[in-house]
Amino acid sequence: MNLKGKNAIVTGGGRGLGKAVAIALANEGVNIGLTGRNEENLKSTTEELKGLGVKAAYSAFSMDDEQAVQVGISALASKLGGIDILINNAGIGDFGSIAEMPSETWEQVIKTNLFGVYYAAKAAYPFLKEKGEGDIVNVASTAGLKGGPNMSAYAASKAAVVSLSQSMMAEWRKQNIRVITLTPSTIASDMSIQGGLTDGNPDKVLQPEDFAEWVRDILKMNRRAMIANGSIFSTNP
Ligand SMILES: NC(=O)c1ccc[n+]([C@@H]2O[C@H](COP(=O)([O-])OP(=O)(O)OC[C@H]3O[C@@H](n4cnc5c(N)ncnc54)[C@H](OP(=O)(O)O)[C@@H]3O)[C@@H](O)[C@H]2O)c1
Repeated sequence: MNLKGKNAIVTGGGRGLGKAVAIALANEGVNIGLTGRNEENLKSTTEELKGLGVKAAYSAFSMDDEQAVQVGISALASKLGGIDILINNAGIGDFGSIAEMPSETWEQVIKTNLFGVYYAAKAAYPFLKEKGEGDIVNVASTAGLKGGPNMSAYAASKAAVVSLSQSMMAEWRKQNIRVITLTPSTIASDMSIQGGLTDGNPDKVLQPEDFAEWVRDILKMNRRAMIANGSIFSTNP
């Protein structure tokens, strides 16, 4: 499918996986609305995207604030002229043991990763419904398929995203909205490198560009086809 002229919102699009997806989609002629908290990153990525010949805009807000998510996504929809695609990507990875991680940190991971995905999808849905079709890519993690030590909050948040996303798919496919649940394994980014999950070696470890190409190709499939769930791994990290 040709994606040229479509409008995509990419949450957490100022760096990491979100930025790579924004660039891959802009290279297909997709106009991009970026969100995040760091305005400097958002501004520079927006300029980079405009340089690729598409419309680009950003809105800075935190994913844990429902009102701010609603206002920010509506503002981007107005600037771009509607929404066709939501890449629900923003997330945090705070790692630590159940006994030692402060409850406030645990709650913040759930609030950002789970509630954030819910708020953004709820805010974007009326725009997709209005167009009569659209795509939502919810970025979960392999951590959401199986918990492990020192990742209880992150894994629980991502397991909940998988479940939320499957419910979303069941409800919204009837409006021709493809809801795609992705569970990537470790990819080189600030989150995974600072979290000590990988050294990010590009000869071995998945890079944000690999993830971005995958998302782009899933979205380019004929609209009658929907990849409901998918994982991506480094071959031999
Ligand atoms: N990297 C991996 O190994 C891996 C594997 C599986 C799944 N994932 C998932 O992929 C997604 C992207 O991760 P990444 O590796 O690119 O991480 P990253 O480099 O740490 O980037 C995280 C992104 O999320 C945004 N963000 C975080 N908290 C936010 C908040 N409260 N409000 C608004 N934006 C917020 C950040 O924007 P600001 O800096 O502007 O706030 C940033 O753009 C996450 O959902 C992550 O869980 C990553």
